[in-house]
This record gives sequence, C-alpha cells and structure tokens, in this order.
Amino acid sequence: MTTGLTTEISPAGEAELAGAARALAEGRLVAFPTETVYGLGADATNADAIARLYQAKGRPAFNPLISHVADLAAAEKIARFDAPALALARAFWPGPLTLVLPKTRDCAVAELATAGLDTIAIRIPSHPVARAILDAFGKPVVAPSANISGHVSPTTAQHVESDLAGRIDLIVDGGPVEVGVESTIVGCFEEPMLLRPGGLPREEIERVLGRALLQPPSDVENDSAQPLAPGMLSSHYAPRTRVRLNATDIAPGEVLLAFGSPLKDAERAAAVMNLSERGDLNEAATHLFGYLRALDARMAQTIAVMPIPNHGLGEAINDRLRRAAA
Ligand code: TXA
Ligand code: MG
Repeated sequence: MTTGLTTEISPAGEAELAGAARALAEGRLVAFPTETVYGLGADATNADAIARLYQAKGRPAFNPLISHVADLAAAEKIARFDAPALALARAFWPGPLTLVLPKTRDCAVAELATAGLDTIAIRIPSHPVARAILDAFGKPVVAPSANISGHVSPTTAQHVESDLAGRIDLIVDGGPVEVGVESTIVGCFEEPMLLRPGGLPREEIERVLGRALLQPPSDVENDSAQPLAPGMLSSHYAPRTRVRLNATDIAPGEVLLAFGSPLKDAERAAAVMNLSERGDLNEAATHLFGYLRALDARMAQTIAVMPIPNHGLGEAINDRLRRAAA
C-alpha cells in the first residue's frame, strides 16, 4: 500500500540540504543519512507530522522515537542530564550514542514522539548531512530508522526507496553509511543501563563511566505490554527468509552469511556474502543490513550465519542477528 505521495530523491548539496530543512518546517517527512543508518525525519514539535511518520512506517504509536538535535545546548532544553549522562554526552557526542533521560518540564517535543513516557531518547549524530539539516532546521528532529516497521534498517538511499517510496516526501542521498548498525541506547536511570547494543561498543561506554552498564530485562519480559525499551521486541529486524545462527556447515539450498574465512563446504551454498573476510567487526557492521537484504532477496530456504565474536561491534551485530532469527 502506498499513500500516493511523490517521493523526491535529491543529492546532498548545499541547496538541497536547505530545502530538506524547509520541508521539515512544512511538516514533511524527510529521509536522510546518519552515520549509523538512514533516518526518517519529522519536526519533533509537530504532532501531525509525527502521526504521519508512524503511519508511513507502519509503526505502532506506543514505540517512541529518538529526538536528534544539533548540540548539547539543544539537548539540555528537552532533557535533564545527571553527571554520568553529561560525561557520556561530552565523550561521545556527536556520534552513535542515544541517551534516554528524564524530559524537562517545558520540553517542546510532542507527546506522541515519546509515546506518553516521561523520558526522552536523544542523540546528536555526527554525519555531516544530518548535522547540516539539524543546523539549518534549528529544532529537534525525530528520526526512526527509515524502513517499514519490522524490516531491516536502511544503510543506503536505495534501501530507503525500496521500503518507503510513495509514503514519504524526500530522500536525501548521502551515499552508504559509515557504521551500519543503529546507535547504542543507554538509559540514564539511577544506574546507567544498556537498552540496545549498537554502533558505540559497550566497552568504550564502560571505560568513561568507570563501571559496568546494567543489563536490560530479558526479551521475554521485554515483550510485555510495558517494555523498558519499547522498540526492542524480539521479532524486530526480520528478513522474510528463515535465519540459522552459528552455522558450522551448509545444507543444500541455503545461502551463507560468512565472517572471516568461509566454511569449508561454503561452495554448497546457493550464494555467499562475507561480512568481512579479514574478520573486522567494524567492516562487518557496515555490511550487515545490506547483505541481509540481498540474501533475503534470493528467496532461499534459509540464511545460514557463521559465528561472530561478541566483543566491540560484535555485540550489536549478534543482537540484530538474534532478532532476525527469532
Ligand atoms: O541509529 C539510530 O539510533 C537510528 C538513527 C536514524 O538515528 N534511529 C533508530 O531509531 O534506530 P528507531 O526508532 O529505529 O529506534 C529507536 C529505539 C526504539 O527501540 C525505541 O523504542 C527506543 O529507541 N526509545 C525511544 N525513546 C525511548 C524511551 N523514552 N525509553 C526507552 N526507549 C526508547
Ligand atoms: Mg528501527
């Protein structure tokens, strides 16, 4: 189903970025690159635009959105930072980190964006295109990943187009993203908690905090009516093809998502894509969602996935793969 909009795709030149900011001010839906994945932006203070954003993605309105801002001063207008939150913001912003914080009393972000919670998720992206749009727009921009709800996140403008053409107004094409998995989300509660592993490795966050991050409740509890990180339902990030994890062999008819040196019977696979032949987890993250989309399009019986080490960006990669397999 489309909503019958004409979706314009523009390059990321100066004039187009100013145009993207004007489109946001008019309540339009604008997809743009961040360093993690492409986001679908709307004016965070415009409830109508946010309602249309939820509709365009097919996203349940109880799943709140991340507000993207240009700088720390803008973040402090909408959320209250305690000392650990400030330390994380100073160490990692701009960058692939989202903080969940208590809202300020006069927070201008629409209730619909925070799904009625008294907390708000905030991030300052580092991608020059995202920064230029945020600077020119001058207000917070809500931006979930620019995919149909439940699909794999987009890492190129073409991924956005294949999910959302006809449903949104504009896609700013800034080329493939750098990181490839979504931002790490830390809940700044009494004790900081890792709500979603992502593009900033846990180890770096714990080094700045000087202590371990709390673990979120298990997915089982998290699938309840009031999950702590509402978007982290286990069925998220799903390709249509069945996904088999920690594969050490290949069955006929399977396609293989490899990491490092491929399995010795890899030639039996109908297709092989290697996340990183040299076993580099950062490189693997940049390829993850694109390769999942490409292997999904082969209509194989199963995508077999080789084991991935669980440190650095491996934690986020394994998290997304577990959800894809659920
Ligand atoms: O890298 C990213 O974070 C990308 C780019 C575009 O910035 N955005 C992204 O947004 O991944 P989205 O909507 O796909 O995921 C946001 C997650 C959801 O799981 C949502 O439930 C959670 O953040 N979230 C938002 N507000 C929250 C809050 N107040 N408390 C807990 N979780 C929250
Ligand atoms: Mg998403």
